[in-house]
Amino acid sequence: MKRFADEIRAAIAAATGIDASEVRLEKPRDIAMGDFAFPCFALAKTLRQAPPAIAADLAGKLNGSFSKIEAVATGPYLNFKVEVAALSQAIIESAIEGGLSYGKSDEGGGRKVVIDFSSPNIAKPMHVGHLRSTILGAALHRMHALLGYEPVGINHIGDWGSQFGKLVAAIARWGDTVDIDADPIPALLALYVRFHDEAEGDPTLEEEARAAFRELESGVDGEVRSTWRKITELSLAEFNKTYERLGVEFDLVRGEAWYEDKLEATLERIQASGITEESDGATIVDLSSIRKKMAPCLLKKTDGTTLYATRDMAALFSRQAEFDFHRLLWVVGSDQKLHFEQLKGVLKRMELPWEPACEHVAFGMMRLPEGKLSTRAGKVVFLGDVLDRAVEEARKTIAEKNPNLPNAGAVAEQVGVGAIVFNDLKRERIKDVLFQWEEVLSFEGETGPYVQYTFARTRSILRKAKAAGEDTATTKVAPDWAALEDARGVLLAMGRYPEAIRTAAADAEPSHLTQFLLGLSRETNSWYANHRVLGEAPNITAARLALVEAAGSVIEAGLTMLGVASPSEM
Ligand code: ARG
Repeated sequence: MKRFADEIRAAIAAATGIDASEVRLEKPRDIAMGDFAFPCFALAKTLRQAPPAIAADLAGKLNGSFSKIEAVATGPYLNFKVEVAALSQAIIESAIEGGLSYGKSDEGGGRKVVIDFSSPNIAKPMHVGHLRSTILGAALHRMHALLGYEPVGINHIGDWGSQFGKLVAAIARWGDTVDIDADPIPALLALYVRFHDEAEGDPTLEEEARAAFRELESGVDGEVRSTWRKITELSLAEFNKTYERLGVEFDLVRGEAWYEDKLEATLERIQASGITEESDGATIVDLSSIRKKMAPCLLKKTDGTTLYATRDMAALFSRQAEFDFHRLLWVVGSDQKLHFEQLKGVLKRMELPWEPACEHVAFGMMRLPEGKLSTRAGKVVFLGDVLDRAVEEARKTIAEKNPNLPNAGAVAEQVGVGAIVFNDLKRERIKDVLFQWEEVLSFEGETGPYVQYTFARTRSILRKAKAAGEDTATTKVAPDWAALEDARGVLLAMGRYPEAIRTAAADAEPSHLTQFLLGLSRETNSWYANHRVLGEAPNITAARLALVEAAGSVIEAGLTMLGVASPSEM
């Protein structure tokens, strides 16, 4: 697709004298009009001519210069139509050859992109916000890798902070009332909730908690630290179960505690830049010059302990020194908007040139019908339960639709988990995810299972072709590419895949890719509804089979980028 676009840009540039990189091509509103459109308004001023006249004039000039592209003036637009045989062969072959790496490029040139994602808090259940971060971050990681960047995925686990003092104090008091080893997260959660309940009437609890956290921060390797270490390990093992189900890996699991011995130097560096102030014994950076009324960034509390922001500043300096990143993405809910504005505010006040490379990739909430999760209130929707429920529903649907499916259990896991992941990435990330069970899991409509099902259909046709001896490996017939005129919609959709990946990574917006996949699936299904693949003249069947194979291949590549499985039967 790009090849044809480049050819058109070069020809327009040669005919008009404008730079090829300035030639903006659009997608015509109706594909019957062409594959690319050039709006001639852009030239009206320089050429002092009305756009329709420019279009007509250019069409005359350009038509001699292409062999496989036709230029037609339609009002103020110049529309280009690529000869179908050239278009279909080029797109189908590059899709099939590309396979799972279709859309691969080297635009990244090995530059590093740090992606801070997932980052749940130890001793608490991973909630749906962390699920969104995990899914978004992993998709962005895969896409950047495809584009030739070197992504560095970091799980910035919340394993440090005053809440660990509370937990250690609670364990000291009531540790023997729960079985932490058997089922760590609910047990720790119960202790945490109990702490908050009882602390209201018992101030010594808060005192014990503060003392425990001070000891933790002091670096003493005693009982407090060993309790902390144990709950960290148990929690991580729990989180890993979810990561495994989602097929997510990290380059580094580096929690907040990892920056502990860098906090002093971090504070000194910020202080040395002359932007800190003492306020009631605390150390802050005033940010009112960044935005009027922005709250100051608190780096050190009156009691000398550090904060979430201090650890994030340490992480920034350390990552910048270690990776010299081209981009740093914090994939964190929009409820932390102020926090990341403050971090960027501090970098700005320090006049660090790499500040613009740091982006808060914010997202909205996932609202489950069960209600929003709150750890404090003890009303919790466990993530594992959400996934289990989705898999269970998928299993029921499969049993109904395809009772003889081999491997039904494994497919149900792929469809159930895939449905959740796809639903999460479907809309612009900043929007809340509305979650209706029936809708998320439906095989029709804008869902993961619908896209998976479209892929499975392509595989089913290929299997049938083989069984009937109509596949090209058997017939050795050359495809009649020109016979695919009526599949232009599918072809053009497939050809836009590399662009969908590029914009999804650039905007840190995987929904460009989910929307692309829904569009391609719709095109493919509506083409099927009107065309027979098998049993046609052999060279037509060969062309249509190639189209089906390519469409399936692009869908599989896209689902893989999102972290959604592509079962070949469902
Ligand atoms: N642990 C935090 C939370 O659950 C998210 C951490 C995000 N990353 C960061 N660098 N602050 O809210």
